[in-house]
Amino acid sequence: MSQKRTDIMQRLDLKTFLNAIHLPLVAIGTSERIEGMNDAAIDLLGHDILGRHFVMGLRQPKLLEAIEKVLSHREKTLSNFVGREGDQAFTWDVICSPLTVQGDFLGVLVSFTDVSALETANQMRRDFVANVSHELRTPLTALSGFIETLRGAARDDEKVRDRFLGIMDKEAGRMNRLVGDLLSLSRVEGDERMRPTDEIDIVSVLRSVLQTLKPLAQGQGCDVKLVHADDIGPVLGDRDQLQQIFTNLVENALKYGGRDKTVTVEIARIEHDRSLRCPSLEVRVCDQGEGITPEHIPRLTERFYRVDSHRSREMGGTGLGLAIVKHIVSRHRGRLRVESTLGQGSCFTVVLRQDA
Ligand SMILES: Nc1ncnc2c1ncn2[C@@H]1O[C@H](COP(=O)(O)OP(=O)(O)OP(=O)(O)O)[C@@H](O)[C@H]1O
Ligand SMILES: [Mg+2]
Repeated sequence: MSQKRTDIMQRLDLKTFLNAIHLPLVAIGTSERIEGMNDAAIDLLGHDILGRHFVMGLRQPKLLEAIEKVLSHREKTLSNFVGREGDQAFTWDVICSPLTVQGDFLGVLVSFTDVSALETANQMRRDFVANVSHELRTPLTALSGFIETLRGAARDDEKVRDRFLGIMDKEAGRMNRLVGDLLSLSRVEGDERMRPTDEIDIVSVLRSVLQTLKPLAQGQGCDVKLVHADDIGPVLGDRDQLQQIFTNLVENALKYGGRDKTVTVEIARIEHDRSLRCPSLEVRVCDQGEGITPEHIPRLTERFYRVDSHRSREMGGTGLGLAIVKHIVSRHRGRLRVESTLGQGSCFTVVLRQDA
């Protein structure tokens, strides 16, 4: 057994060894030239650098410094490398290790690990925490300011007190909605992999949504129309989550579609949806508002993204509604489509499966 192992260690050639590993690997000899690369390293760095001096081949100062250190001190050294593909940057953690065979120092083995996904996830987490803190700080600052005024200047003025208490109530409500939406988002993300299997009558879901939003529609002077054929059949879904999708879409159409307009909710059956590859129901929520400029459309489902943040906040929006819609649609393996014509209005379409 031990005889065999020694055999492998002595007879295995470097090229076979490097190519058996998926991480990009580069071997630099004591000549300071790049003497070996595996296929993954050729993909990353190109094969032109094979045979060149490592300074010319690798070029990034931090990495060169690390290699020089291994050549002179023969100690493992950590570094990193930034690669580019188009306008996207990829970050690699790099380990430079001394290559020795039976005590002889032969050079440096440089191995690259792609940590871009981790970097992106970390950046997203930092952005998210910053956004949440910012969203909570605004109402909190307002509340602290009003408390101070009520304790001081406005202490004995009943009228001002009532007005301020009204504003404080609105701000507290906004914080409450924000926390509610965050919890809802994290719940939806949590069960995104569990496919919903209940058969749901989407017309009854929409009737209930329109009933709930009746006061908002009346307040906006808007008419909401529900249009559908008979016998369209059920969709596979989670009733509460479908209710959540259409509550946000119809609420948006009412809030951003302008006063005294018509919002139309239309349900159509698609015999065979090409992208879902099964019979589906398409629910279109259309308003007659100002529309959304094309550059905003792909970003609408990002958390906290608002086209006109002042207007959205004014209307009590948290900017999380469409992010939640996107996750729910994805859990349902459906599709969300947004079309908008400036000056004419916007249509948000959700396609839901009737078959698994
Ligand atoms: N029908 C629409 N017409 C015009 N703009 C819209 C429409 N629907 C959404 N938007 C824009 O997209 C942004 C994001 O919508 P989203 O539903 O995610 O957040 P919100 O409505 O601001 O807050 P929330 O839904 O959490 O109360 C809105 O702030 C608004 O600027
Ligand atoms: Mg909304």
